[in-house]
Amino acid sequence: MSTHEPRLKLNVVGKKEIANGIFEFELRDPAGQPLPAFTPGSHISVRTPAGLINKYSLSNSALETDRYVIAVKKDEQGRGGSVSMADDLAQGAQIDVSLPENAFELTNKRTDYIFIAGGIGITPIYSMIQYLLGTGVDTFKLYYLTRNAQSTAYRDELNTSTLQGRTVIHHDDGNLDNGYDLWPVLENPRNSQIYCCGPRFLMEGVKDMTGHWPAGSVTFESFGTEAKQAKNNIPFAVTLQSSGKTIQVDEKTTILEALAKNGVIVPSSCESGTCGTCKTGLIAGDADHRDMVLDESERHCKIMVCVSRAKSGDLVLDL
Ligand code: FES
Repeated sequence: MSTHEPRLKLNVVGKKEIANGIFEFELRDPAGQPLPAFTPGSHISVRTPAGLINKYSLSNSALETDRYVIAVKKDEQGRGGSVSMADDLAQGAQIDVSLPENAFELTNKRTDYIFIAGGIGITPIYSMIQYLLGTGVDTFKLYYLTRNAQSTAYRDELNTSTLQGRTVIHHDDGNLDNGYDLWPVLENPRNSQIYCCGPRFLMEGVKDMTGHWPAGSVTFESFGTEAKQAKNNIPFAVTLQSSGKTIQVDEKTTILEALAKNGVIVPSSCESGTCGTCKTGLIAGDADHRDMVLDESERHCKIMVCVSRAKSGDLVLDL
C-alpha cells in the first residue's frame, strides 16, 4: 500500500467500457472541490474493491483540475484487483486513492517527443498528448501498438484530423510476426525524448534499439508484474552491509518487500523496475537485473530492488 498520505475519498461519477475489457473511471471530489494538481505522466494508487492497492496512470489532461480519469484493463490472470475494479466498482461508489505521484515526467529539454505505447500503456501517454495539445505543442509522434481495433482504448480520440500525421496505430492481431518495426524510427538518434509504456517485450525491444541514443533520451513506465513474477524465481538471501543482518527472499517476494517486512524501508514508486526510485548499492553477488533503468556500467554496483533478484547465491546490499 502506498505510504503517501493523505489519501482522498473520491466519487466514481462515470464508468464505461472504452475498449474490450478496458474500463474507464471518472473520479471527482464528493463536494465538487478541485482536486490536487498533477503533471502529465502521473499515477495514483487505488484501493480496489478486492482490497488490493493497484497503481493506475491518470489518462486525462493535467490541465483539468476537477477530475481524475483512469482506465483499467481487466486482467483475469492478475491478482484480482483489476477484475474487482471492472466487476465491482460501480458508478456512484466511493473509492480511496492516493495523491498523484509522477515517475514518468514529461520534460521539455529536447526539441520533440516520440511516444511508444503498447496496449493499456497508452494511458499516461494519452494524458501527455492532451496536455501538449492543450498548451499548443505539436512536436510529437505517437506509435500506438495494440492487438486489434476492438482492444484499442482512445482509438477514436487519437484518430482525429488534428492528429493526422502524428499518430500511427498498428494492430498485430496477436501475432508478434505482425509487430510494428520501430527500427526505422529509432535507428538514427536525434534530439527527441522517447517515452515508452507497455508490456515488457515492447520496453525491452525499445531499450535494445536505443542503446546508441544519448543517456537520458528514453523513459519507461509500467505497472506490470511480469518482471517480478518470472517463472525462474529462486529463493536467496540478502545481507545488509551496515549491520551484517541477513534477510531471506522467497520465490514470491521481492527484495523490496522482504526488506520492508524486516523494517528496512527503501523508497519506491513504480515497483516494476522502470522509475529508478529504489536504486540500491550492490556490494557483492550475482544479480539477475530485471529493470529498465540501469545501464551496463551500473549493473555491477547497483540493483533495483523492486524487481531484480539473485541469479545464484546471495547478495550483499549497501544498506
Ligand atoms: Fe521504480 Fe524500483 S520502484 S524502479
